Amino acid sequence: MAETKVSPSLLAADFANLQRDVEMLNHSGADYIHIDIMDGRFVPNLSFGFPVTQAVQKHARIPLDFHLMIEEADPYLEECVKSGAAIITVHLEACRHLHRTVSQIRNLGAMAGVALNPHSDISLLAPVLPFLDLALVMSVNPGFGGQAFIETTYEKVRALRALAAKLQPSLIIEVDGGVNLETGKKLVEAGADMLVAGSFVFRSSDPVATVQSLKSL
Ligand code: DX5
Ligand code: ZN
Repeated sequence: MAETKVSPSLLAADFANLQRDVEMLNHSGADYIHIDIMDGRFVPNLSFGFPVTQAVQKHARIPLDFHLMIEEADPYLEECVKSGAAIITVHLEACRHLHRTVSQIRNLGAMAGVALNPHSDISLLAPVLPFLDLALVMSVNPGFGGQAFIETTYEKVRALRALAAKLQPSLIIEVDGGVNLETGKKLVEAGADMLVAGSFVFRSSDPVATVQSLKSL
């Protein structure tokens, strides 16, 4: 079986030492750096914008995985690609014309992802699944790091894997929120390919070893 892909979330980094933390991730074996963009509307929080992502881009030697928790994604897609996004994930609940948005992401040369909030059923993804590279299953309500994992996520991942086998066999299933070694192991068993981890990586005493242990799940 392929190694689990790991995308540490920069939201849990030390923003006063961003270069140091990005360089740590470069050498950690992480596959991506997860970039959480919030607008204070789709989620009740703000994170950071393009001046910060451009600073990250300057130091990153691994690809960037943008998670847009924003109401209006379309006007910012091009800027995400200019900031080094290899993956751009938008929320199903935020996009009025989801097929158009994911097509635009692919036309810009990035991989297209759609994220689902914990309350959204995976069947809602079916019509766009053939056009996606990735689906992001939220295992917490988006907006904050450090929240408790929602246990019903395992079943969602299993059901999505089965749906993807029919509609988009090469779909990457990414899971975000409350990931640690215990939840991560069960997620991989359920069919997840890629794990996002914020606090579990950055609050650990040895973040590089933590990335490695997630990769080996
Ligand atoms: C939550 C973000 C996550 C967050 C995960 O809205 O999408 O990427 O950083 O943080 P942890 O791993 O601490 O739950
Ligand atoms: Zn995220």
